[in-house]
Amino acid sequence: MRHLMSPLDFSVEELEELFQLADDIEKNPAKYAHACAGKKLATCFYEPSTRTRLSFEAAMLNLGGSIFGFSDANSSSAAKGESVSDTIRIISCYADICAMRHPKEGAPMVAASRSTIPVINAGDGGHQHPTQTLTDLLTIRAIKGRLNNFTIGLCGDLKFGRTVHSLINALVRYSNINFIFISPDELRVPEYITEMLREKNISFQEVTRLEDVMPELDILYMTRVQKERFFNEEDYVRLKDFYILNKEKMELAKDDMIVLHPLPRVNEISVEVDDDPRAVYFRQVQYGVYVRMALLLTLLEIKVE
Ligand code: NCD
Repeated sequence: MRHLMSPLDFSVEELEELFQLADDIEKNPAKYAHACAGKKLATCFYEPSTRTRLSFEAAMLNLGGSIFGFSDANSSSAAKGESVSDTIRIISCYADICAMRHPKEGAPMVAASRSTIPVINAGDGGHQHPTQTLTDLLTIRAIKGRLNNFTIGLCGDLKFGRTVHSLINALVRYSNINFIFISPDELRVPEYITEMLREKNISFQEVTRLEDVMPELDILYMTRVQKERFFNEEDYVRLKDFYILNKEKMELAKDDMIVLHPLPRVNEISVEVDDDPRAVYFRQVQYGVYVRMALLLTLLEIKVE
């Protein structure tokens, strides 16, 4: 039995197989409409989410399976003090697979170690968000046609943004990726990540101004300042509007540069950018459903001929 805790749980070859399956799902949705008939997905969300939970649920429904779960820790027995280990043992009796989001780093790992069904980490604190990374990779692969040879700028809250941490981890396995980290000093990418990049001899720069690097980028990955992980409101208020991507800044970019965002967006991308063909963050949401469908089939070991 296999779980998904980090994007590194799949080799580059296995990821390619997953993406090919997602491509086939996109082209032939009817072929997969009953693939998970009789299977149940439990979504255990101890932290708010719209996209991730609903896209898991949409993915399972598209495969003909059923869904149930909770979207608020207060409505589960966690409010009575039940441990994640106990909860997953219970869920294992009800469901065939579980997607779990938790504010505590490592909680889905603890659950996986006690579970008799596959567990998917749907985001653990500021740590990892592997299915968002699968979504990001599939989007880049679909639109750019490759997962190597590009310069990617990651902009915003690089300290607390788990999607950023997961994506960097995953991209270092592809060749000739040049990272530009764009953040205020307080929200720089954690040292363990820059150390890992140095060890692997992977090129990266850290800058503060988005405008300066805009012309170099093939991909711009914008992120929201992670309000819920701040210790004080004052710092959040000071930093929340540090970057606002607008039409003017988009003019500095290459014609085929693409803008990704894991969403939700707050102020960091002005709505006027949405109509720019290079803004692909809403298409990214659709790829998120295909890749989660492919992941559910893979972890449930269901083959569709
Ligand atoms: C991200 C998350 O939860 O980390 N959202 C998502 O899953 N699409 C990004 C965010 O909340 O900023």
